[in-house]
Amino acid sequence: MMASAPPPLLEMRAVAKSFGGVHALKGVDFALQRGEIHALVGENGAGKSTLMKIIAGVHHDYEGTLALAGVPTRFRSPRDALASGIGMVHQELSIIPDLSVAENVFLGSQPVGRLGLVAWRQMAAEAKEHLAGFGLDLDPKMPAGELPIGLQQLVELARVLFSGARIVILDEPTSALSPPEIERLFAVLRQLKAQGTSFVFISHFLEDVLAIADRITVFRNGNLVATAAAAETDKKWLIERMIGAGHEELEATYSEAIVLASETESAPVLTVRGLTIPGACADLSFAVHPGEVLGIYGFMGSGQLELARALFGKLPLAAGEILIDGQPVRLRNTTDAKRAGIAYVAESRRRMLFPEQPVYRNLSIAMLEKIGKVWLRPARERQIAEGHIKTLGIRPPSVEALLRNLSGGNQQKVALGKWLTERPRLLVLAEPTRGMDVGAKDDVLKIVHDLRDQGIAILLVSTEPETVLAMANRVLVLRKGRIVQEFANQTIGKDHLLGAA
Ligand SMILES: Nc1ncnc2c1ncn2[C@@H]1O[C@H](COP(=O)(O)OP(=O)(O)OP(=O)(O)O)[C@@H](O)[C@H]1O
Ligand SMILES: [Mg+2]
Repeated sequence: MMASAPPPLLEMRAVAKSFGGVHALKGVDFALQRGEIHALVGENGAGKSTLMKIIAGVHHDYEGTLALAGVPTRFRSPRDALASGIGMVHQELSIIPDLSVAENVFLGSQPVGRLGLVAWRQMAAEAKEHLAGFGLDLDPKMPAGELPIGLQQLVELARVLFSGARIVILDEPTSALSPPEIERLFAVLRQLKAQGTSFVFISHFLEDVLAIADRITVFRNGNLVATAAAAETDKKWLIERMIGAGHEELEATYSEAIVLASETESAPVLTVRGLTIPGACADLSFAVHPGEVLGIYGFMGSGQLELARALFGKLPLAAGEILIDGQPVRLRNTTDAKRAGIAYVAESRRRMLFPEQPVYRNLSIAMLEKIGKVWLRPARERQIAEGHIKTLGIRPPSVEALLRNLSGGNQQKVALGKWLTERPRLLVLAEPTRGMDVGAKDDVLKIVHDLRDQGIAILLVSTEPETVLAMANRVLVLRKGRIVQEFANQTIGKDHLLGAA
């Protein structure tokens, strides 16, 4: 008789998990081999994070079995899973903002020196070394909360990648990163893989997935629908499995070259002159017209997020002026910005949403702030929210669901939806489709273009070339806080943006 193959490093059988009436997983068989990078893809709410949280010990109340190298196991807590060599970087960042960068890198595993004291110097030095592996030169003593969100994501990645875990789960690790950081992350993953670490990699960026994964598994509606070798599959195949056949047009929206318009003659809604934000941007001048989407593209840290925040009154200017409809405005705070007709969807949804509140409250809050009332007839509030849930395809389609129980992509739709009730003059969008699946991205794209066609001026800032290409009519490229190129009235593709940034 032939010897049977050794059991997979991790094997799950018939795993099912429900939250109240929601069947997040409906009987999933999943296996991770030693030394592989196994990617998970699927629509928002398909069940990817839920399955991974079972492996990482977050959920212990589930049906089915889990075995490590053939040994049946059931984790009772994340600490339990960690002790078995399983680490996870969660979709929602869990950096502790008040702790230093070094403490965050070593969270829960600080090196202990003589007398049982945390070996500070050693910790700072090691943290610095780990981060240098990502090409980062950070001060290990600075509070992690002061870093831009992309760097926070790298700090969190460093924590898990260098924790010594032999199974590492990465739930959308690249959502806040720009192409150069993604490349560095992939180099680190390949290196750790060569040393025997196994990875689960969740992402909505199918090109990234195809580039890094050995195998790819598609989830749909709580089921595992297919697994394929990355070398033997492509984007089209994945999209068809994710959302059903007949969606070739989605793929087309998010690729290749687009033709840009030229700057229009109509009077601009927003004019910015010589705008300077300390430590972020210098001497920016541009205009956004009604009915256009001006894209601001740049790598992480090139100043575009600060620009967006300054336009919503969240950062002070060192110099320059902002005009709305030709009138100079002073934006000392967000109330000033709202009064001037400016709306803002932040790159970090956690800062703008209320996780413990139901969906309808999150959708109506911007309007309530604007009309200066703390209440609205509840029936009316719910009715408006129901309309938004339909337009945006929010799932589950319930006004009462608590925001924190929605999947990541659906939370992002709520963040956008809260501005749909009161039409702004200028809509500032920072990474509006971060964390969304291809179908949801397409929904948001349609909403943005619809708002544009109604004459709203839209400023889109993003580190994702795909998003800028799909949404913008005209593009400015920022590098180190300065405008280095404008693309208008020409055909451009991803290469143009990457080349200029
Ligand atoms: N703690 C929870 N309470 C209630 N429902 C939940 C909870 N966590 C997840 N769900 C629901 O389970 C389903 C699967 O969610 P999950 O977070 O696994 O999706 P996902 O595939 O990771 O999606 P995304 O790509 O948007 O992150 C969704 O319908 C979600 O609303
Ligand atoms: Mg998820």
